[in-house]
Amino acid sequence: MAETSLTAGQLVLPVFVKEGLSQPSPVASMPGVAQHSLDSLRRTVAGAAEAGVGGVMVFGIPEHKDSDGSGADADHGVVQQALRLLRADVGDQIVLMADLCLCEYTDHGHCGPLTSDRPDATVDNDATLARYASVAVSQARAGAEVIAPSGMMDGQVAAIREGLDADGFIDTPVLAYAAKYASAYYGPFRDAAESTPSFGDRRSYQMDPRNADEALREVFADLEQGADWVMVKPAGPYLDVISAVSSAVDVPVAAYQVSGEYAMVEAAAANGWLDRERTIMESLIAIRRAGAGQIITYWATEVARLVR
Ligand code: PBG
Ligand code: ZN
Repeated sequence: MAETSLTAGQLVLPVFVKEGLSQPSPVASMPGVAQHSLDSLRRTVAGAAEAGVGGVMVFGIPEHKDSDGSGADADHGVVQQALRLLRADVGDQIVLMADLCLCEYTDHGHCGPLTSDRPDATVDNDATLARYASVAVSQARAGAEVIAPSGMMDGQVAAIREGLDADGFIDTPVLAYAAKYASAYYGPFRDAAESTPSFGDRRSYQMDPRNADEALREVFADLEQGADWVMVKPAGPYLDVISAVSSAVDVPVAAYQVSGEYAMVEAAAANGWLDRERTIMESLIAIRRAGAGQIITYWATEVARLVR
């Protein structure tokens, strides 16, 4: 009689690969998660594929950062190297998705180049679009099968779609982080991705948690620009938004169970305050019940093994 199901193929594992590492480096605020070397990344993704996880979302951390985030579309950038290796290892067993943003690559930690170097600078939306198109092409050339822009710049899906089409990647889908909130739950991720803004915050481009109708406007804007698949993020605190979006659109809807959602359960379980496995499963079922077809979660491999 159960109305809601959870299968391994619905899960996507986010992974971090850091240039220059020879050993994985644990992320303190996310027990069980590490920044990977190329070798440990390959083992981790092979394990996910083996467990039946549907996809991996690759995030890169470069050795050198600059104001334009030039490492993001470098031919031999860390994500490009990782994608080439993963494509050869497990390209036919798991979907390779590339997160597309610049905050891991800019020295100021914002998701695009700034309007100036004065203290009142903000992100230059339109200059960022050209950068995103170039990064998308570079990731697709390296083997990414899905491009997932997470920067929340206006017009980013159209710019990326045009860039991909012009380079011949007409069949490479775009998974838009369409309704992405300016959330406190991203804290641990910024340790993992080394992407904390050096000043200010991301409220000029991410969404206000008080707004739900605006999420639908963001989603429809991305669909008009050619998004194939849309995402709501974070997941657990925004189940109403997942539900509204999945009722309103006829494309697949994904939800990102973010680092803070992960860290809260791990911390409570480590204290003996929650039953870890039951809480993980309930959190994921709730996201599925709200209407998400796919879930990006740091527990993907473990849960894939459990539900098999
Ligand atoms: C940045 C980005 C963020 C996450 C993924 N890409 C957050 C942010 O710093 O705005 C968050 C993921 C998580 O918390 O697990 N473009
Ligand atoms: Zn970003």
